[in-house]
Amino acid sequence: MSDKKLWAGRFNEPTDAFVEAFTASVEFDQKLAHFDIDGSIAHATMLATRNILSGEEGDLIIDGLERIRSKIADGEFEWSVELEDVHMNIEAALTADIGEAGKKLHTGRSRNDQVATDVRLWMRHEIDLILKELKRFQTALLNLAEKEIDTILPGFTHLQTAQPITFGHHMMAWFEMLNRDAGRLADCRQRMNVMPLGAAALAGTTYPIDRHQTAELLGFDKPAENSLDAVSDRDFAIEFASAASILMMHLSRMSEELIIWSSAQFAFITLSDSFCTGSSIMPQKKNPDVPELIRGKSARVFGHLMSLLTLMKSQPLAYNKDNQEDKEPLFDVVDTLKGSLKVFADMVPAISCNHDNMRAATLKGFATATDLADYLVRKGIAFRDAHEIVGKSVAFCVEKRCDLADLTLDELKQFSNVIEEDVFDVLTLEGSVAARNHIGGTAPAQVRAAISRARGN
Ligand code: ARG
Repeated sequence: MSDKKLWAGRFNEPTDAFVEAFTASVEFDQKLAHFDIDGSIAHATMLATRNILSGEEGDLIIDGLERIRSKIADGEFEWSVELEDVHMNIEAALTADIGEAGKKLHTGRSRNDQVATDVRLWMRHEIDLILKELKRFQTALLNLAEKEIDTILPGFTHLQTAQPITFGHHMMAWFEMLNRDAGRLADCRQRMNVMPLGAAALAGTTYPIDRHQTAELLGFDKPAENSLDAVSDRDFAIEFASAASILMMHLSRMSEELIIWSSAQFAFITLSDSFCTGSSIMPQKKNPDVPELIRGKSARVFGHLMSLLTLMKSQPLAYNKDNQEDKEPLFDVVDTLKGSLKVFADMVPAISCNHDNMRAATLKGFATATDLADYLVRKGIAFRDAHEIVGKSVAFCVEKRCDLADLTLDELKQFSNVIEEDVFDVLTLEGSVAARNHIGGTAPAQVRAAISRARGN
């Protein structure tokens, strides 16, 4: 291999040593190697089909690239910063291996369409893995929801006791959030699955290429319509980071609830020891580090979304070197997201509910006050008046330090004479949740139906 750079035909001076390292991306973009080789094999196959390369040259290139792939997989490939990036490292190694034919691989393409293709191939693969992990997490939620379908806990608004709900219903709320996340990722995957290759540097190429063939070989839905757009835009990466940010925001909310619920003050759930850590000074501590860390990790994903947006803004058409900066944020978004989803999928089946604590907490805070108001409405009182009557009853209970269900019929009657013995049915927690019996409601019957719909039964 000569010391000269692959692009240095017009250069008289060598690259400044610091600039060489400063502009290189191989330390991180080697992650794309497998996809770079897939792209090159498809490109070489197409060049040979179109007689731009001979069949023999095409075969030499493809065999050589497969040898390089194995070397990389075995950790035996020597990456060189002097060769700047993953693309030129692989091309130089190919030429060193097979000679003249290796120099023909780059016919009719540029690193600009090459890198845009690689990133899309990599991201498509990663989205598929993320969607699988998301599904595993959702299945864990369905199982937990089913197991705790009748478990009652307080539902909150403003983190103040609002109305009784079932734990199964709460888990299904998380399930729905994740369903939309999966939809966003699938949508992003579909919009992204368009092939830049053939756009070459920016304007297309003079060779009689067949972009439909390459697109088909690489599993893209179609070739990109416009060469300038194909090499320059990274909106698909921004879209992915934004779907990832929304998903991390959801994981952060779920984490927050797990943290609150596992505190000594709430003690609604117990997290498995294998997902908690201790304190080096306080022997009694069992800290919910894993959900805390995921709550914290949402910050870096949001940050990467901002980086990518800022990276793209103001860039004139077409490719600019700025775009090399898309990789590290994207790689970190993927690693963070996959790790967080894996942890949740593994942690959720090991959550155990402390039923007595949940029940005791629901009995505090007048969770069935709305049920009493609805009862009065059914007896002919207007809702606004019913609200006032129950408000007065609650004030009485606060004074007496008891719950609505602890009042005698006579005590309740002083607030409204329509109240009869049957009021006690609506004041029970079970009665309260069972009464919210319509699609989307917290009644166990409805949660059971929701789980069954979610399972596709
Ligand atoms: N390493 C570059 C990137 O990540 C590859 C494309 C380089 N193209 C160029 N014209 N310098 O974007």
